[in-house]
Amino acid sequence: MARFSDQYGPWALITGASSGIGEAFAHQIAARGVNVALVARRGDRLQAIANDIETETKSRALAIAADLTDEHGLDTILEALDLRHIGLLVNNAGAGQTGRFLDHALDDELATLALNCRAPLKLTHHFGRAMRAEGRGGIIMLASIAGILPSPEFAGYSATKAWNRFFGEALHAELADSGIDVVSLCPGLTQSEFFDKVNFDPSGWPWPLRAGAILSADEVARAGLRGLGRTSQVVPGLSYRWLMRAGRMAPSGMPPWLTERVMRLALPKK
Ligand SMILES: NC(=O)c1ccc[n+]([C@@H]2O[C@H](COP(=O)([O-])OP(=O)(O)OC[C@H]3O[C@@H](n4cnc5c(N)ncnc54)[C@H](OP(=O)(O)O)[C@@H]3O)[C@@H](O)[C@H]2O)c1
Repeated sequence: MARFSDQYGPWALITGASSGIGEAFAHQIAARGVNVALVARRGDRLQAIANDIETETKSRALAIAADLTDEHGLDTILEALDLRHIGLLVNNAGAGQTGRFLDHALDDELATLALNCRAPLKLTHHFGRAMRAEGRGGIIMLASIAGILPSPEFAGYSATKAWNRFFGEALHAELADSGIDVVSLCPGLTQSEFFDKVNFDPSGWPWPLRAGAILSADEVARAGLRGLGRTSQVVPGLSYRWLMRAGRMAPSGMPPWLTERVMRLALPKK
C-alpha cells in the first residue's frame, strides 16, 4: 500500500466516477491510501460516493461536477483541484451509440469522440507533464475489447476505444523512462449503467457465449490496478483472454462479420 501511494499519490483523478467501473476505481484507489478527485456530470451522485469513501477509508474525496464534452470541462476540474498534485489519472468516462453509424446524428458521434478521445487527450497532456516533472505517476486508459475487435453496430465507439488502446500502449513505452506507468485496460461486457444507455441486452446470447461473459465493475477496476506498472495492456477475465488468443490464431484475426452477428443478438430487433 505504501508503494502504491508513494508512486501514485497524493491524489488520483478519476473521470466517470459516478457509476460503474469509475465508481469501483474510486473505492479501490481510496482504500489503497490515495485521495480521490471524482469527475462526472451528476454532482449529487459524486458527492454521495465521496461521502461514503471518506466514511469507509482514511482518504479524502472531492466531487467535481463537469461535462467532459464541453471545451471548458478541464478548466472546471483545474479550478476545483486548486493545485492538488495528481499522481494517478484514470481516463474512464465514456459513452457511445449502438446501431448503424449512418443512422446516428452527427452531433452524437462528435460528442462521443469529444468524451472518449479529446477529453482524455487533454487531461493526459496536462497531468502527464506534471507527473513527468515529479518523475513518477500512473495513467489508466479505458479501452475495451471493442477497441481490439472492430465492432459493426458500434463502429464510432469501437474506433474511439481503439484510439484509447493505442494511445495508452504507445505512452507506456514513451513514458517508461519518465517514471510514469501507463496501462490500457480492455474490458469485455461489464455490468454497469452502460448496457441500458446503449440499448444492449446480452441475455439473448446463447450459452456458452453468455456464461462468464459478464464481468463485474469491481473485478475490472482491480485488474486495471494490478496491471499498472507491470504491463501495457490488460484484458480482464479468463473467457476474454481466451477469445483474444483464438482471434490471434485465426488466419486474419476475428472477422468483423462474426462480431456483427454477436452484436445483433444483443441489440433491439429492427
Ligand atoms: N460496461 C461495459 O461493458 C464496458 C466494456 C468495455 C469498456 N467500457 C468502458 O468503461 C468506461 C466506464 O463505463 P461503465 O461501464 O462504468 O459505464 P457507466 O456506468 O455508464 O459510466 C460512465 C461514466 O461516465 C460518465 N460520463 C458520461 N458522459 C460524461 C460527460 N459528458 N462528462 C463527464 N462524465 C461523463 C458518467 O457519469 P455522468 O452521467 O454522471 O456524467 C459515468 O460516471 C467507459 O469508458 C466505457 O467505454 C465499458
